[in-house]
Amino acid sequence: MIELLAPSFDKFSWVLIGAFILPVLIWQWVKRPKNFPPGPVGLPILGVAGSLINRAEVSLMKMSWTHGPIMGVKLLRKFTVVLSSVEAMQNALVKQGHAYAGRPDSIMFQAFTGGRGVLAIDGPRWKENRRFGTVTLRKLGAGRAIMEERIVDEAMYFCEALQIIQKKSFNITKLITHSMANVICGLAFGERFNYDDKRFISTARALVDWFNDNSNVFMLLVFAPFLRHFWPFTNAVKSLKSAREKLYTMLIPIIDRHRETVDDYDYRDFIEAYLQKISQTRDDPTSFYSDKELLGNVRDLFVGGTDTTVNTLRWTIIYLINRPEVQKKIQKEIDRV
Ligand code: HEM
Repeated sequence: MIELLAPSFDKFSWVLIGAFILPVLIWQWVKRPKNFPPGPVGLPILGVAGSLINRAEVSLMKMSWTHGPIMGVKLLRKFTVVLSSVEAMQNALVKQGHAYAGRPDSIMFQAFTGGRGVLAIDGPRWKENRRFGTVTLRKLGAGRAIMEERIVDEAMYFCEALQIIQKKSFNITKLITHSMANVICGLAFGERFNYDDKRFISTARALVDWFNDNSNVFMLLVFAPFLRHFWPFTNAVKSLKSAREKLYTMLIPIIDRHRETVDDYDYRDFIEAYLQKISQTRDDPTSFYSDKELLGNVRDLFVGGTDTTVNTLRWTIIYLINRPEVQKKIQKEIDRV
């Protein structure tokens, strides 16, 4: 076939083809949606993805010095907006939170959540879960003094653990992760677990640790889901699913135990509140409240509530280590209260 075609393709034809194809490829590379914020063009096909392999936050910060705090970039085939100032984040995520509440339409989110829960889904189910979750967590103390008491209690255990380690150098991530997971456990089912509890470490913490160690891999898979079919991403997806199942093996018996104590009028934690809602809506054929949905919501509290707080604290600690004068200022403020 090639031999048959080749003679009819002289040099001039190739130049003509090039003259048509090249502009189309360049246009594909540089075109942006209407009103897309300014940003670097990046490489063809990859966009800026290559610059994010190592220290993504530093690369993006440097780009934002040139292009501004609201920057548009292309990550592989996805157009993405990067916010890099507190003001821009507040404007988008707080003041216009509803406009930005959607999630990318990603095969990875679907595979991980099974379309249940609240963190990575869209539509009426998300709306209802979010409304229920916000009201329930508030009643349980989120954003109020009672939550502060719980966090202070956990901080005591945390400080005790630090004292045992004393002056040996160590990586603080796992300890912070465990303490944050404990705060979530308190909200979700009213329990905490010792820092050396091996069963807890191999079940509840497995998923949280996975996201802590692999958040870059997960984001890459969200943007380029086809990679999940190729090694080493096949292993990453397998270990993610296994970590999720481990969390479920801890949560399912806890949910079953809560069934025995669930009350029609009151609740002490998120699982009790959700079971109460399932029972109240049992006869409503339009209700989606179910055991599977409950599992998805508690999983999302773990995923949404730990990695974020753990990394905020890790950055805070690094910042304070490098700025002893700020440490002293905070200590003075704590002593004053
Ligand atoms: C420093 C701490 C935290 C940061 C920086 C953070 C950040 C975020 C961001 C940016 C979103 C997406 C918001 C949106 O799309 O509208 C989100 C959603 C969410 N976060 Fe957090 N979060 C933190 C702590 C927590 C905690 C402690 C919990 C649980 C107790 C939690 C649970 C969730 C859940 C369930 C969602 C999904 C809500 C929804 O889709 O409507 N987060 N978080």
